Amino acid sequence: EQINKGKYEHYMQKEIHEQPESLTTTLRGRLIHGGSSKANSVLLGGLKDHLKTIRRSRRMVFIGCGTSYNAALATRPILEELSGIPVTLEIASDLLDRQGPIYRDDTVAFVSQSGETADTLNALNYALENGALCVGITNTVGSAIARKTHCGVHINAGSEIGVASTKAYTSQIVAMTMLALAIGSDSISSEARRESIINGLVDLPSKVREALKLDNEMKDLAKLLIAEQSLLVFGRGYNYATALEGALKVKEVALMHSEGILAGEMKHGPLALVDENLPIFVIATHDSCFSKQQSVIQQLHARKGRLIVMCSKEDAASMNVGKYVRVIEVPHVEDCLQPVINIIPLQLLAYHLTVLRGHNVDQPRNLAKSVTTE
Ligand code: AGP
Repeated sequence: EQINKGKYEHYMQKEIHEQPESLTTTLRGRLIHGGSSKANSVLLGGLKDHLKTIRRSRRMVFIGCGTSYNAALATRPILEELSGIPVTLEIASDLLDRQGPIYRDDTVAFVSQSGETADTLNALNYALENGALCVGITNTVGSAIARKTHCGVHINAGSEIGVASTKAYTSQIVAMTMLALAIGSDSISSEARRESIINGLVDLPSKVREALKLDNEMKDLAKLLIAEQSLLVFGRGYNYATALEGALKVKEVALMHSEGILAGEMKHGPLALVDENLPIFVIATHDSCFSKQQSVIQQLHARKGRLIVMCSKEDAASMNVGKYVRVIEVPHVEDCLQPVINIIPLQLLAYHLTVLRGHNVDQPRNLAKSVTTE
């Protein structure tokens, strides 16, 4: 049942639409909230004997490739905030190319849907040789990464067949957010923040269901963009990762050039690309970066950019809709969970662009689901 397409035409489409359920499974049995003496905490069985060591580590390093790297990028701010430990990110192949330093007092997390990606696995062997505590964050029980790490968290998203990773991405973000909550659970000063995040996690599947209602709107947008050569995606803060991941989806399945850009870097080069032809997707949902993103929008608009703006429903009324090609309104959730919501319209856009452009959705040319060679 889990691996047939059911009422859907493609696995990618099915996997996008089943995210309320896959996220529910990721969360199942792991949140303790309301009532009990241990109210508002997180239970990650595979980590409980290692949390003290993780809290004592000098640094946490998250390693992955492609979408799995982007999921770690999306979670870095909350990991840093709740743990107080410096968090660095590594693309597995780049760490190996550089033979970058890994220390005995590092906690190194390996993020991989398949648990078999050669680059990530090689980086794991390298970190083991260097004596670090190795944590696996995978979707595949019994995979090489799950077996070789000292401890870990299964994301429990269910099997993902489409080459483009969708539901694993959102489950990875949720699993790593729970990891941040578990590491920070001994801090009294962050108790209220942790409680809001846990409440946000409880509501997240229903908010994702709401975001999926944008399907037709994103199909319409895909019709508008069908013949474009390129699409830029601007994001920052929690949603820099959303920009990279949205662009990765568009390029890998719709075979359209797309680039995720850190909005704070706009003036350092990308601004030169802006004209009245190039479509630009700007993620401007409500968080501490919102006013900075509003000024980015103004600057892009002043240069006649063709803007598609994603904003929180609450801000839609104050957006001057007539100025933009489209305004995409998404439900507002706790800032660190917003990337889970914001990627949904971009996944839908990539899916519809691919179908409309007549490309293979589930098996894009030249790509494999699991990259087991270097
Ligand atoms: C995602 O859509 C890609 N197909 C790809 O970037 C993938 O995320 C990457 O190859 C890593 O795979 P893994 O999560 O199985 O390690």
